[in-house]
Amino acid sequence: MDSNKRIPKHVSIIMDGNGRWATARGMSRSQGHAEGVESIRACLQAAIESGVEYLSLYAFSEENWNRSEQEVMGLMELFFTGMKSELQLFLDTHVRFLMLGNRPRLSEKLNKAIDEMEEATSKDYQTTLILFFSYSGRWDILQAMKKAARELTPEQFQAMEQQDFDSFLSTRGIPDPDLIIRTSGELRISNYLLWQGAYSEFYFTDTLWPEFRQKEFKQALEAYAMRERRYGK
Ligand code: IPE
Ligand code: IPE
Ligand code: MG
Repeated sequence: MDSNKRIPKHVSIIMDGNGRWATARGMSRSQGHAEGVESIRACLQAAIESGVEYLSLYAFSEENWNRSEQEVMGLMELFFTGMKSELQLFLDTHVRFLMLGNRPRLSEKLNKAIDEMEEATSKDYQTTLILFFSYSGRWDILQAMKKAARELTPEQFQAMEQQDFDSFLSTRGIPDPDLIIRTSGELRISNYLLWQGAYSEFYFTDTLWPEFRQKEFKQALEAYAMRERRYGK
């Protein structure tokens, strides 16, 4: 089989294992997260080369707010500086940036930087990079339900079909993930794309996120190309 013919349109990654990677080397968890940014660069490059149109990354869950203040602050700072340092590369490589998640929980400074990054990369793009940040699947479903209740009449609400509900989710307009990768050997969804991942293929690997680079990304694409998707048929 020619694997090039079965390129997923949307690849999503639960980037896990930064802490364990760092601890094993006597480093701080923050150093693990910083090294993880290198893997984001590598996977984005591999996605562009492979013709993957959407690469989405679970970077910070709603539950991750429960980590130590030091670690949370470090992740916020990494997100902020990461956007600033990557802008030019995104423009040069025609990458659109989107952040999806619970925006009101983020600082004004971070929200402003996200707006600027999204605006600056919104034209002339081939690849979309989505960062799920302060995101959880249940949060998304709940906010969608509230939005639908606000915007629809009771009759419209009752008549709502599954595809209508899609348009109230934070991911409206974005195709459901074809492939969801989780690194670090954990075999769970951790409140990620609960609605959108209904028919995603899953790829689990023991590799820790800071070591998941171009070669590993392309191996996951090869595994995907061998899958048979049946959608219940
Ligand atoms: C993933 O790595 C990054 C985030 C969840 C922010 P972890 O920080 O969960 O690393 P482990 O699972 O403790 O090794
Ligand atoms: C999932 O990783 C969330 C992200 C990768 C952002 P966690 O490390 O938070 O998940 P659990 O706690 O192992 O389920
Ligand atoms: Mg983890």
